[in-house]
Amino acid sequence: MRQPLIMGNWKMNGSREEGVQLAKALAEGLESVSQEVAVCVPFVYLSDIRAALGSSGIALGAQNVADQASGAYTGEVSASMLADIGCKYALVGHSERRSYYGDTNQSVAARFCQAMKQNVTPVLCVGETLEERESDKTFQVVDEQLDAVIDAAGIEAFDKAVIAYEPVWAIGTGKTASDEQAQEVHKYIRQRIAERNPAIAEKVQILYGGSVKPDNAKALFAMPDIDGGLVGGASLDAKGFLQICHSV
Ligand code: PGA
Repeated sequence: MRQPLIMGNWKMNGSREEGVQLAKALAEGLESVSQEVAVCVPFVYLSDIRAALGSSGIALGAQNVADQASGAYTGEVSASMLADIGCKYALVGHSERRSYYGDTNQSVAARFCQAMKQNVTPVLCVGETLEERESDKTFQVVDEQLDAVIDAAGIEAFDKAVIAYEPVWAIGTGKTASDEQAQEVHKYIRQRIAERNPAIAEKVQILYGGSVKPDNAKALFAMPDIDGGLVGGASLDAKGFLQICHSV
């Protein structure tokens, strides 16, 4: 049985005070929830949010991690720094990083490996653009994104990693993939992993991301290969995010 995981991705939103208030509201509201919940927050607020989450059990995540261990890499934040302040997760290869900041399959793989080395669980984001979907390239794109990481880190790494399938056309657009569309790709990803290691494929959590909202979460999370969600916009509202967490 895979443990469900709901992860909020706050992106570059809010002030310190707003983040602290949101974290406190989540900590209070999640007392009775048994599945794992995490929030990926801006680097500069990680420590404040960790303090606000207190002993709630909600895990802390970063939205990115450097592709190098340490040294002269101005502006970067290393995996050891994230581990140092209690980060459990780091997103790698979010589509906004890939499309606006030049992250490539190779640099994403390097970030993934750095996180693994420091026991920060990487959450590998994969997904196709609308153009790629319309030209029947969804599986090819997802293969390339996955294979770059498998080649660099080895399939065994996925024993301690999370995958998030996020169709780019569904992110922040209000257009969710249908339950069946999402399940189809999740199943495909699990099969790709199974070709190399069936035990890991059975175990690895694959989250869906892209306009997850309180009113569509339940049906998505009910699909057999969807193990939870990576939630952007809707994670900024405590009430809505709590509802999503309760949809598992
Ligand atoms: P969204 O973002 O829920 O606002 O679509 C999801 C994500 O980018 O992780």
